[in-house]
Amino acid sequence: MVTIKTDEEIALMRKANEIVRDVLSLVEEKIKPGMTTKQIDKIVHDYIVKCGAKPSFLGYEGYPGSACVSIDDEVVHGIPSSNRRIEEGQIVSVDVGSIYKGYNGDAARTFAIGQVSDVKRKLIDVTKQSFFEGIKILRDGVRLGDLGHAIQSYVEANGFSVVRALCGHGIGTDMHEDPEVLNFGTPGHGLKVKTNMTIAIEPMVNAGTYDVVMLDDGWTVVTADGKPSAHYENTVAITPDGVEILSL
Ligand code: MF3
Ligand code: CO
Repeated sequence: MVTIKTDEEIALMRKANEIVRDVLSLVEEKIKPGMTTKQIDKIVHDYIVKCGAKPSFLGYEGYPGSACVSIDDEVVHGIPSSNRRIEEGQIVSVDVGSIYKGYNGDAARTFAIGQVSDVKRKLIDVTKQSFFEGIKILRDGVRLGDLGHAIQSYVEANGFSVVRALCGHGIGTDMHEDPEVLNFGTPGHGLKVKTNMTIAIEPMVNAGTYDVVMLDDGWTVVTADGKPSAHYENTVAITPDGVEILSL
């Protein structure tokens, strides 16, 4: 069921998303070669708890971390590990969620570690910009197919591919609510968004093929061809004439 939030609910989601936004800025400051992905997870966990919120990923369907930390060909849901060190030249996606007074925030960024290849740099930039190409056209009454199409056409015009197997989602008292928010689509198709709907828009963009594979750990999703992937996500509220990005 797709729900319309009250202004009071959106105010709580604004708070949950500010926490997510701020912890991602903190990670951006701290992340450096030699750190383990578990150390990133601890920064995220401790900050969210300090804010009086709950890390929403921890224990979600048995997920063992507060953040997903996905390196290079890992698309999403990389499990933090004390054996995994971040290295110069990698791109690292960090995905974070918090629950504040029962309401969810969800956002992700991809960081370049030191000097990265031109392709990786472009992949990060195109992934982020594809989100903004999408929200440029989004407002009350626009269909999700138009949003997906805007994201997809920008990504493909830049020579990259949009992951098909994973998507964004409605968000509120649950981290994952209806509707599904695909990062590809056909103009004029799909649900019409309405004022005070809240959705997480999260393009996952691959340098090569859009096909992905799940690792044996049951969580980590990697590209089928081993080429790098980037992720960018914000939670937004639909308004009459656009969107409010709650996690920026
Ligand atoms: N934040 C992810 C999303 O955008 C979900 C994380 S899955 C979890 O949908 F298990 F880590 F919580
Ligand atoms: Co999400």
